[in-house]
Amino acid sequence: MLTYPDGATALVTGGASGIGAACAKRLSDDGVRVVTADIAAGADERLDVTDPDAVDSLRTRLGRVDILVNSAGVVGPSAPLVDVGLEEWRRTFRINVDGTFLLCRAFVPGMVEAGWGRVVNLASIAAKDGNPGQSAYSASKAAVIALTKSLGKEVATTGVLANVVAPAAVESPMNAGTDPAILARSQSLTPMARMGRPEEIAELVAWLSSTALSFSTGAVYDASGGRASY
Ligand SMILES: NC(=O)c1ccc[n+]([C@@H]2O[C@H](COP(=O)([O-])OP(=O)(O)OC[C@H]3O[C@@H](n4cnc5c(N)ncnc54)[C@H](O)[C@@H]3O)[C@@H](O)[C@H]2O)c1
Repeated sequence: MLTYPDGATALVTGGASGIGAACAKRLSDDGVRVVTADIAAGADERLDVTDPDAVDSLRTRLGRVDILVNSAGVVGPSAPLVDVGLEEWRRTFRINVDGTFLLCRAFVPGMVEAGWGRVVNLASIAAKDGNPGQSAYSASKAAVIALTKSLGKEVATTGVLANVVAPAAVESPMNAGTDPAILARSQSLTPMARMGRPEEIAELVAWLSSTALSFSTGAVYDASGGRASY
């Protein structure tokens, strides 16, 4: 059984779907008060993570958040880099990178003030591997890894720990629009020869959000069925 500080509140972006929804359920099952935020219907709070004013206003409404899970994200264009439009590239970065940055910037100071906090940012094995046909996604998730490494070091002595989970392909609505060739490649590179389930990712996110975590920050945890790329 994982434990969390008494009365802990978690904010899960992208919480209306897939991995975010599984994280919200997992944390809630553990007794954490969970607020989901998503641009799609079905979350507790409607939020566009790319909108700085909306993020600031959510912080004002919610007050202190002890656990931040940044799961909002998009897969972006499935095309060779030379065929990717600048606006599709920028949109992928706006959501995956700017969104993660804005949420961390808004909520980490409250955690530092409280002397305890957990940030879990969702990246991807694609960030380490550089999936062909997914340059925008891969590069944006590499940025998520790097910003988390910086943040983790910046707050290392404050009680706030910030880490990354890097899943391989997971059975979620995100992959409904992913090029089947990219999914087949991912599966062929995965020793367990299957996709992950959102609940399996949520298990690791819950551990990284709990008091069990004490000596890791700025670290990247693969949840990838053995798929590895260093
Ligand atoms: N599914 C996979 O194979 C996989 C693999 C590795 C990493 N990831 C990462 O895990 C995270 C969750 O993915 P998922 O599989 O649950 O995808 P998903 O599509 O099921 O859920 C993503 C959620 O993010 C929300 N979102 C998108 N843009 C938003 C915005 N501007 N503001 C707020 N919310 C927004 C969507 O509405 C959706 O509910 C993503 O960051 C993704 O890149 C997924």
